[in-house]
Amino acid sequence: MREPIFPQLPPMGWNSWNTFYDQYDAKLIMSVADALTEKGYAEKGYRYLILDDCWAAKERDGKGKLVPDPAKFPDGIRPVIDYVHAKGLKFGLYGCCGVRTCAGYPGSFEHEYEDAACFAEWGVDYLKYDNCHRPNSQGSEMLYRRMSMALRNCGRDIILAACQWGTEDVETWIRSSGAHTYRSTVDIQDSWASVKSIAEQRLQHLSCGGPGCFDDMDMLVAGMYGGGSNPETSQGGCTAEEYRTHFALWAMLNAPLIIGCDIRSADEETRQLLQNADLIALNQDPECRTCYRLKCECNPGAVVLVKPLAGGDYAVGLFNFSDSEGCAGVTFWDMGLTAASGMGLRFYDCMDHRDLGVQKEAFRILLPPHGCRVYRCRPVKQ
Ligand code: GLA
Repeated sequence: MREPIFPQLPPMGWNSWNTFYDQYDAKLIMSVADALTEKGYAEKGYRYLILDDCWAAKERDGKGKLVPDPAKFPDGIRPVIDYVHAKGLKFGLYGCCGVRTCAGYPGSFEHEYEDAACFAEWGVDYLKYDNCHRPNSQGSEMLYRRMSMALRNCGRDIILAACQWGTEDVETWIRSSGAHTYRSTVDIQDSWASVKSIAEQRLQHLSCGGPGCFDDMDMLVAGMYGGGSNPETSQGGCTAEEYRTHFALWAMLNAPLIIGCDIRSADEETRQLLQNADLIALNQDPECRTCYRLKCECNPGAVVLVKPLAGGDYAVGLFNFSDSEGCAGVTFWDMGLTAASGMGLRFYDCMDHRDLGVQKEAFRILLPPHGCRVYRCRPVKQ
């Protein structure tokens, strides 16, 4: 029997959709594979290179098989996948459970088993499986169940990333479909309003997701700054502060970290943010526990998240979603640390990589609008 695929940690990688839309070809994708390895992303854990919609020809071939677009992939898709694998990376491809993909290319409805076999033959490691153009009578649960069964029996280990958008109470059934991640919201856009709205929705479902089937809050827009050729994603961009908050939230909430900006040309600040080892370590913590949310005494609007980490540490995230400067803080008693314990918390700032010493009873700071701070805290005897 093959080893089961049961991802213990959120997948990390890069996806073509946010920046490139349908504007890519084999050469471009191979240059992104180069950037993933040469610019240090792969070493930090970003292993999946995922080709989103628009990779296929508009029609299947005479035998009903999917065909890579010959203009984008003149030598087929195999050489690109081989190139990606030769770099030590994994390759992800996009499909859809309806008759057409969202952008109008052939979907896998009633082609699930032959398409799974084709993906396996090409060497695909991850399938992002979308939810467009389903026959009216057909709910998505059965269709995700179907592709899951097809992939589980195609002879290759392929992650099923269900792109379900959070409809039909997906949290209640997706884990049992066999999918490994599930999109839980509508598409992200490169704007603070979109980042905030997705985060606020998922704060209502903190205990969903986790090892085996992660809650996918959609790809990262960090570093896009309004660029890219995707008119749906490109919405003016965020500030560097907002991108930091976005990345810190996705990291704390155990979301897959799938980069969407052009890592070949991203600025140094973006590279440092996406490769922040202290934040990535929270997302990739071996225990992979979900966060709980605390009320903030100094500011009821602040978002305070606490995540138990392996080895006794705790991540504390302080977030200010409001449009004005605001206080955010945590009283240690609320985390379970009693005065009688005689312990304090040693605070380490994961954004500045600085030790802030042992704090007693409580910790408070002033945050800029849309800003955040994330700490790794260790209970210590004072
Ligand atoms: C849907 C998905 C997006 C992207 C597009 C491609 O909108 O949610 O992430 O894959 O389709 O057409």
